[in-house]
Amino acid sequence: MRASLAIGVSGVGSNMKALHAVAARGELGADLALVFADRPCPAVDWAAEQGIETAVVPGGADDTLAEALGAASIDLVVLAGYMRLVGPATLAAFEGRILNTHPSLLPAFPGSHAVRDALAHGVKVTGATLFVVDGGVDTGPIVAQTVVAVEDDYTVETLHERIKVAERQMLVDSVGRMVREGFTITDRKVRFGHE
Ligand code: GRF
Repeated sequence: MRASLAIGVSGVGSNMKALHAVAARGELGADLALVFADRPCPAVDWAAEQGIETAVVPGGADDTLAEALGAASIDLVVLAGYMRLVGPATLAAFEGRILNTHPSLLPAFPGSHAVRDALAHGVKVTGATLFVVDGGVDTGPIVAQTVVAVEDDYTVETLHERIKVAERQMLVDSVGRMVREGFTITDRKVRFGHE
């Protein structure tokens, strides 16, 4: 049976749209069953216009979110620009099955200003990281990373746009492999495929 995917958003939703495009072509190996947001935003409006089931859970209320994901029989949750920590009830119900994408090469520059912080630090390369959410802030086991060179004239905005191009490709490739091949997590090492 095909996996059911939920995507969490808070903003524009370009990562969500990239996943949706592949899923709609039947190439992801999963169905996009739910898009949820912690606030009204363009991404959740767009999903509703596409006829995708949506849920706005104000403030990302933990019990409400866990219930919405359970009611939709979700197998895997992808946080894609979801600007909120996931609470303990949701984490417990979906342990090892919540992914997040972050615009830096973790463990460098965790938190909500990763692109600004990396640029201010003067790094020559940065990128994006897909990881499995645990109880910390951007601390979970890493699934995939993609690298972007930082050019001298980049601003926070242009660097973030450049990162997002690489991030979308990483997300589509890695989430696709995870749902089609399965994955294991041992001693923080995430590997594709079944044991
Ligand atoms: C992404 O770079 C994500 O990693 C960060 O915010 C951005 C969201 O972009 N947390 P979008 O809403 O998917 O366009």
